[in-house]
Amino acid sequence: MTNRIKEFKNMVDHLTDVPKKVINNEQIITNSSPYRQKYHVESESGTLGDPNGFSYFNGKYQLFYQWSPLAYSQKPHYTQHGWKHLVSDDLIHWQDLGAAIESDTRYDRYGTYSGSAISEDDKLLMFYTGNTWINTDTQNNWVRIPYQITAYMDKNNIVHRNNDPIIEGTVSGYTAHFRDPKVWKKDGEYYAILGVQRTNLTGTALIIHSKDFKDWNLLGELNTKYDSLGYMWECPDYFELDNNGVLVFCPQGLKSEGNKYQNIYQTCYLMGDKVSLPDTEFNAENLKELDHGFDLYASQTMFSPDGRRILISWMGLPETSYPTDKFHYSGCMTIPKELKIINNKLYQVPIRELDTCRVNEQIIKQTLTDNVYQKKLSQTANEYDFSIDFKTSNAFIIDLFADEDDQRRFRIILNKKKNEIVIDRSTTGKDISVAYGTTRTLDYSIDNEINIRIYTDTSSVELFVNGGEEVFTSRVFPKKSQSYLFLNSVGGTTAVTGNIYEMSK
Ligand code: FRU
Repeated sequence: MTNRIKEFKNMVDHLTDVPKKVINNEQIITNSSPYRQKYHVESESGTLGDPNGFSYFNGKYQLFYQWSPLAYSQKPHYTQHGWKHLVSDDLIHWQDLGAAIESDTRYDRYGTYSGSAISEDDKLLMFYTGNTWINTDTQNNWVRIPYQITAYMDKNNIVHRNNDPIIEGTVSGYTAHFRDPKVWKKDGEYYAILGVQRTNLTGTALIIHSKDFKDWNLLGELNTKYDSLGYMWECPDYFELDNNGVLVFCPQGLKSEGNKYQNIYQTCYLMGDKVSLPDTEFNAENLKELDHGFDLYASQTMFSPDGRRILISWMGLPETSYPTDKFHYSGCMTIPKELKIINNKLYQVPIRELDTCRVNEQIIKQTLTDNVYQKKLSQTANEYDFSIDFKTSNAFIIDLFADEDDQRRFRIILNKKKNEIVIDRSTTGKDISVAYGTTRTLDYSIDNEINIRIYTDTSSVELFVNGGEEVFTSRVFPKKSQSYLFLNSVGGTTAVTGNIYEMSK
């Protein structure tokens, strides 16, 4: 039997078909991890992947995610792929409602893949991709057949699937890499954007349209200037903000260019005029990376009842091993961020609800000249908010998760002289994807003053530069003893003022 066939041998339709003890055992292993996060969403065991169906419905924020809680189970190895369902009043404290959709129909047997949701009256309208394979009894002749499926969730959190897929298989000109519908409503009509691969093996996105969420017609490819950008676009998300059209998406297969595109896969965005409909013209240039850290993928946005465009992402990457695998789980969500357009740039601002987690404020006021400031912290889940004034210095270094001698640490270098920001996790802790490098660098013009906000948790660092103009998101796996902060001014004087808050949950 090939590994592939074995993989699906113990595929179960429902988690309720699995002995409780298998499920509990996975959770016990996961709970024994030293890397469990304090205020970031994680799965109780198994894998957490793309955020899905991010929305507001029934008086609560709704978040679903790609979930395989028994992904690491052994003897027997069970697989189960579905959408996990969480609800929240504040986007920070989430209640776990278990499986929303399980892979139990002939249209999604091999995965209820990513999708989205929008609320309408007493229904949460959903749209996702069902993944299936045929010829699974052969060695190498498996053929993927995707289905685009609509559904709705009622106020009792029961998902009702439409038995007639909107698209079966693919459409002419595209391969079976055809998935991840993100739906939006404009002028009373529905649109969805899907990530696809052309038959010439380049990636793009398609837009479909419906007047009633039942009958859909294909409008065509999103018409951008990027005709051969990677081999597949995953998880496209189109939205409009302050008269701009923004596409956040994951073009797979970009070759690294200088400091850019260093991760195995990237999340990028295009911002320009609103997409003209129905002709799908998107006038946007300057492809940019959404994040400059090591671990961010498959972002999804929602429009909150108070008018904010909020983004959340998987803090993890496909096809990547993490030290948590040993504890039978992987992945977490990023903190949610409010998107804003300031001076024609897309800013990602930590949502204000995070401020309610602040406890034990500590004030930092230091003027450093070629000397080092050292501080022991009592916990690793912290927010740092620093204003840094380069009086005469060339650079300023922030070492997080440092040990007493500052030999092991996560280093942030704000290099004013070179106009670049570097993050370095080479000595932070357990290795992650070292083949893709242990530093990330962004060319960034640094003024005399810079504001830095950082959210750390047990095993992550999210760095926001100048109010969210640039963001660096990374997993880190340090030892417990790495509980120091070091600040270091290089080649002259730097003044730093600000606060450190402990994050409560
Ligand atoms: C992105 C992705 C999506 C797909 C899902 C399957 O991480 O590959 O394209 O829908 O994950 O889990």
